[in-house]
Amino acid sequence: MRYKISKIVEQIPPSGIRKFFDLVIDMKGILSLGVGEPDFITPRNIREAAIRSIKQGRTTYTSNTGLMELRREISHFLNRRYSLRYDPDKEILITVGVSEGMDLVLRTLAGKNDKILIPEPCYVSYMPVTALAGGKPVYLRTPREKGFKLSPKQIDKACDKNTKALILNYPSNPTGASYTRKELKEISKVAEKRNLLVISDEVYDELTYDFQHTPFATLSGMKKRTVYLNGFSKSYAMTGWRVGFACGPEEIISAMTKIHQYTIMCVPIMGQIAAIEALKKGQKSVDEMKKEYKKRREFIVDGLNAIGLECHKPQGAFYVFPSIKSTGLKSMEFVTALLEKEKVAVVPGTAFGSSGEGYIRISYASSFDKLKEALSKISHFVNSL
Ligand SMILES: Cc1ncc(COP(=O)(O)O)c(C=O)c1O
Repeated sequence: MRYKISKIVEQIPPSGIRKFFDLVIDMKGILSLGVGEPDFITPRNIREAAIRSIKQGRTTYTSNTGLMELRREISHFLNRRYSLRYDPDKEILITVGVSEGMDLVLRTLAGKNDKILIPEPCYVSYMPVTALAGGKPVYLRTPREKGFKLSPKQIDKACDKNTKALILNYPSNPTGASYTRKELKEISKVAEKRNLLVISDEVYDELTYDFQHTPFATLSGMKKRTVYLNGFSKSYAMTGWRVGFACGPEEIISAMTKIHQYTIMCVPIMGQIAAIEALKKGQKSVDEMKKEYKKRREFIVDGLNAIGLECHKPQGAFYVFPSIKSTGLKSMEFVTALLEKEKVAVVPGTAFGSSGEGYIRISYASSFDKLKEALSKISHFVNSL
């Protein structure tokens, strides 16, 4: 039987990461630096809080917007940490990770023919989710020479009367680039001038190594035009719990909640309870993990440069994005050959958009021993070319 799949879904390419990891899945003995996931397990106190709640029989639905206690904790946390104030009653929605938050905000904002500006290379979901919402993705290339960052001029030039919103992601997956407060201020001026909404994916905020992270919503006049997305996956090593949150103007959060209540209903209560514990007593673990990632960053950047794969020092997250242009291979050729010859899996830069050609993404959310072994194998591979 021939099924008539919706045109919009048919046109979406499968995720470049998935495509590559489908190859890896059946191979034995692979050293993978591919997945964007902490190698730490969720801190013990967080796991135990969830276990206790299950034992107490807390197994029900919650309010659509999430447990009030969690929304309050998020509100306190953002105020304490960034002097950012959101009303837990009207301006915060608990989502199934940042993934759901991004989907909801785009479905809420991106109507037919609305253009959404997306920096590229970028996280794999932005394009498909924009397209599924009915919006038009417009890519803004962020080359290595510009530190993989957007310039205010570039944003301004890309805007026309149909441009509705700009997606920001800093620190960035896949490049690790982040923005200083000064750089963000310049971007905020364009957002004001062009009347843009800014969807700010700050899921790696805690993993900013060289300067203080600045949430976009804290910039003068920006809170009203920002939807701030964050979650627990990366900072607290809680990818499997699927808890995130969206903060923004009441009107937007309320519209997002409408979609959420019909499609998801609510985030599982166990994850929400674990997230409360994370906010109350998780900071020490976050700081310890961050210290460890920072050491690994130095190690992998130095190692790759020594091999001859030019690698900038990322300012955050846990990825490096070295150039492989010196090898003369395309990204896909490089990762396929590396996998076949050395059994090391990394992600082709092209999985994050066409401007990722000539690069690979390596996750350093792996032990020092694994990173050392991988560097030695990559070196052996590059020298054999
Ligand atoms: C930039 C970025 N945004 C969002 C996500 C999804 O995060 P979550 O687990 O909160 O859905 C990821 C996951 O890798 C990411 O790298």
